[in-house]
Amino acid sequence: MYAHLGKILLTEQEIMNKVVGLGQTISRDYKNKELLVVGILKGAIIFMSDLVRNITIPVEFDFMAVSSYGTSSRSSGVVRILKDLEQNIKDRHVLLVEDIVDTGLTLKYLLENLQTREPASLKTCTLLDKPERRLVKVNVDYNGFAIPDEFVVGYGLDYDQKFRNLRDILMLSPEVYEK
Ligand code: PRP
Repeated sequence: MYAHLGKILLTEQEIMNKVVGLGQTISRDYKNKELLVVGILKGAIIFMSDLVRNITIPVEFDFMAVSSYGTSSRSSGVVRILKDLEQNIKDRHVLLVEDIVDTGLTLKYLLENLQTREPASLKTCTLLDKPERRLVKVNVDYNGFAIPDEFVVGYGLDYDQKFRNLRDILMLSPEVYEK
């Protein structure tokens, strides 16, 4: 259906198998606890909606939206909060959910920021990880797939805000973004 956009890196089925496994592991690790799942908008929403439906313990949701200060200063690690949590996370078990960890700067900032709010625990879950691109060390507790340094779209990930609704994850071919 969208073969002209690029090659499939991960199929819908491969993604679902992974998400089911992550949901089981998280449910086991947080047994007898109440979990607050925090999605980082917008990329994480598709992954988060599948993940929480594979978690079998009680969960609540909250969301944050962040943006880096311009592309040129991206490596500075300065992140702006566009939307903050609605809940107080003091003494809560918080799991941050990302679609992808790239340089690690966003996650590092979020972890440092949220830690000051004194949660009972703070862990991270990402569907995709590009280890080759990492600029800062950041701890990822639940990691779906390590992927090569390719431009990927689909299942929440965008190019110019598009393609987030694709069911598979594709490596966008250069013809698309060089147009
Ligand atoms: C992406 C992704 C992470 C961040 C990872 O968000 O969802 O939040 O970049 O990159 P980093 O590890 O280099 O900091 P993006 O800013 O593209 O926004 P989006 O989620 O709305 O697509």
